[in-house]
Amino acid sequence: MRWVLAFHIIFMVAWFAGLFYLPRLFVYHADARDEPGLQRFATMERRLFIMMNIGAAGTIVFGLWLVFEWWLPLPGWLQAKLALVLLLIAYHIYCRKLMTDFRSGRNRHSARFFRWFNEFPSLLLLAIVILAVVKPF
Ligand code: HEM
Repeated sequence: MRWVLAFHIIFMVAWFAGLFYLPRLFVYHADARDEPGLQRFATMERRLFIMMNIGAAGTIVFGLWLVFEWWLPLPGWLQAKLALVLLLIAYHIYCRKLMTDFRSGRNRHSARFFRWFNEFPSLLLLAIVILAVVKPF
């Protein structure tokens, strides 16, 4: 189980690296006006999103492996954790929509919006890791 848990955490870190950095790129992208700059941000976002998908897939595959092998029936902390993980997946999917909006010139959000948007994953990380490590209920 320790190996499965180790890879679960490794992929989680990769996922969060993208979840923290992609919205930051959106902040700068929203302020960019020059064509080369707009192209550069679109390329950086596309490549980073590929890494985010790999991180998300690995976190979920190894997480579900832990569940089905060692954690059924689901304890309270894990039910709460999975509910928050669903929110994280929704955030991930919304980032994809925002990325395609930027690419097709349809973005309507300001840099200020993306600064606030960028805070959300930190709150989820805080709650999910406390649930996973402390297992309060
Ligand atoms: C579908 C997604 C996920 C599933 C099914 C899942 C499931 C699990 C399970 C069953 C454990 C084992 C707990 C133990 O044996 O102590 C675990 C550990 C852990 N998970 Fe997840 N998890 C998921 C996503 C995440 C995410 C998104 C994060 C980070 C924000 C995360 C962070 C952790 C941490 C830090 C541990 C280690 C806890 C410890 O060793 O005490 N997991 N996860």
